Amino acid sequence: MTTPYEDNRWETIPIRIETDPDACAEVVADEIAALIRKNEADGRKTVLGLATGSTPRGVYRALVRRHQEEALSFRNVVTFNLDEYFPITPDDPHSYHRYMWENLFSHLDILPENVHIPRGNIALGEVSSSCLEYEKKIAEAGGLDLQLLGIGRSGHIGFNEPGSPARSRTRLITLDHITRSDAAPEFQGLHRVPTRAITMGIRTILAARRVILLVTGEHKAAIVRTAVEGKVTDEVPATFLQGHDNVTAILDLGAAADLTRLRAPWLLGPLADQGLAWNETEICRAVLWLAEKTGKAILKLTEEDYNAAGLQELLATADGAAYELNLKGFYRLQNAITGWPGGRTDGSRPKPLRGGAASVFPKRILIFSPRPEDDVLSMGGTLARLAAQGHEVHIAYQTSGASSLPVEILERFRLFARDSGATLGEGPEALRHQYSLIRQLDAKAAAKICGIPPERLYFLDLSFDWHVGEVVKRSVTGKDVETIAELLTRVAPHQIYAASDRNDPEGTSRLGLESLRRALQATASLPWASDCDIWLYRGGGSAWPLPAIEMAVPLSPSEVLRKRRAITQHETLRQSATLPGSTPHQLHELSSRHDRATAEAFDRLGLAEYESMETFTHPDFVSNLLVK
Ligand code: GLP
Repeated sequence: MTTPYEDNRWETIPIRIETDPDACAEVVADEIAALIRKNEADGRKTVLGLATGSTPRGVYRALVRRHQEEALSFRNVVTFNLDEYFPITPDDPHSYHRYMWENLFSHLDILPENVHIPRGNIALGEVSSSCLEYEKKIAEAGGLDLQLLGIGRSGHIGFNEPGSPARSRTRLITLDHITRSDAAPEFQGLHRVPTRAITMGIRTILAARRVILLVTGEHKAAIVRTAVEGKVTDEVPATFLQGHDNVTAILDLGAAADLTRLRAPWLLGPLADQGLAWNETEICRAVLWLAEKTGKAILKLTEEDYNAAGLQELLATADGAAYELNLKGFYRLQNAITGWPGGRTDGSRPKPLRGGAASVFPKRILIFSPRPEDDVLSMGGTLARLAAQGHEVHIAYQTSGASSLPVEILERFRLFARDSGATLGEGPEALRHQYSLIRQLDAKAAAKICGIPPERLYFLDLSFDWHVGEVVKRSVTGKDVETIAELLTRVAPHQIYAASDRNDPEGTSRLGLESLRRALQATASLPWASDCDIWLYRGGGSAWPLPAIEMAVPLSPSEVLRKRRAITQHETLRQSATLPGSTPHQLHELSSRHDRATAEAFDRLGLAEYESMETFTHPDFVSNLLVK
């Protein structure tokens, strides 16, 4: 899907959207490989500006593969990295030096003298001369042929945080709070994230002859929209890219989700021109969008409202009758509300996806929680309801969640054990195990409050957790898939709940879902599989947007309090900002804010007024996941 920006008044730079991060990575690697080969044929070196973070890892894997399998040589490549933390030593597991060598350079035939990364292990007094020197080296190399960029949720490119001027050059900067809290899980606590960094400036970046902005994950959707649809401002440094004449943003569907062309495509012209049609889904999406935009209850929307918002085409499909459209949008939400998430004893509501097990009561229900806290955070109320309504509820904790525990907590538990006379193992493996046990205690206490006994909890300890102090490649292994498949076979569930968010490509939720998808494929022929319904809750305690909601479970004030009690059992997390993008609020505040916002939206749109709501969708709403 490529849209030349001239045809699209909402987007200020050319955009290419791919379905998933891997496809994005291939596109970028193809372009880089073609550039290297062309320059090589012309007898020239290629000067690349490179980025770090989780986003470009796939590109680096794809380049390594081209080097190993397609003889792509890097002997004539010179690289300059965007940034580095300060102060930091090159061998620190969090340094970008180590990141670049481990993810890319050590697998290539690049000459070490051609690699340049700002140095983080110099004295403060040497920083400005070192930055000047860096700029000089870029100039001596002939300038950057291609600069690869990611974007931070603060709107930074490189580490040019809000307020960075267009004329800025390589320099020392102070990191924004959002940037530091996003990095906190990797550093095991906000207080361990460096406060400063050295970064190429905006002017340095814009001087590159070609710029690729690569963004994946729906946690970046809002900032992507601001960067490409918003006005140029130093408050969002990525907007400066709008002034570059050879830039392309390459996005996966998650990162593109907030762009007008996906969020409200009817604003860009006739739907048919965009390969879409006014089917039930699009109609409901537009009606809900209009109600939110006008702040009106759905059933109060008038023909004038539709016309004024540019929805003439939709109105025409209903012979000009707003009320017909309103009803469709209204019933879409109304039918999603249910206090019986496992189904009523008579098999009615919620509408099952496949139907086979609809009338089975009670059901065997298996909930997948990527981290130990995800289940209660996003569906603690529903969990308790399912158990109270007599269903057999099992919970599988996919990763140990050990990495998000501050080391101080482990120390405290070890002190307690020592003072009580226990002997504890030493060494990395033993410590990792102790971290996991602490997180298990939290999960068990939380599940108990929701009415789930410990014998129905499974701590799978899958491989894609961060390992403390290590740089790990995060991916799903065959053994992970086997472990889940075994559990599925043992429980033979009628309903599955899983977390979904298209966050960063190697994020725990994404890998959690990927491992489940593969295990479901492996077990697809088993008798229970064809009748098993799958519901997705949104990871990290957040809620689905209105058009995606297929099931909304209301919570009464007392259920809200119980959910809060369950979440606060994860008390060992209290000190650290563990959720991607969370400000260091209490976990329960974060989730109750989302639950309440959903209930308020239902109320505002003219549906029943509840205290709070948890939301679910079917897998078909989440691309790249479809469980058939
Ligand atoms: C990092 C880097 C940026 C990067 C951004 C996004 O910390 N300094 O160059 O683009 O923040 O990171 P990620 O790709 O992990 O989301």
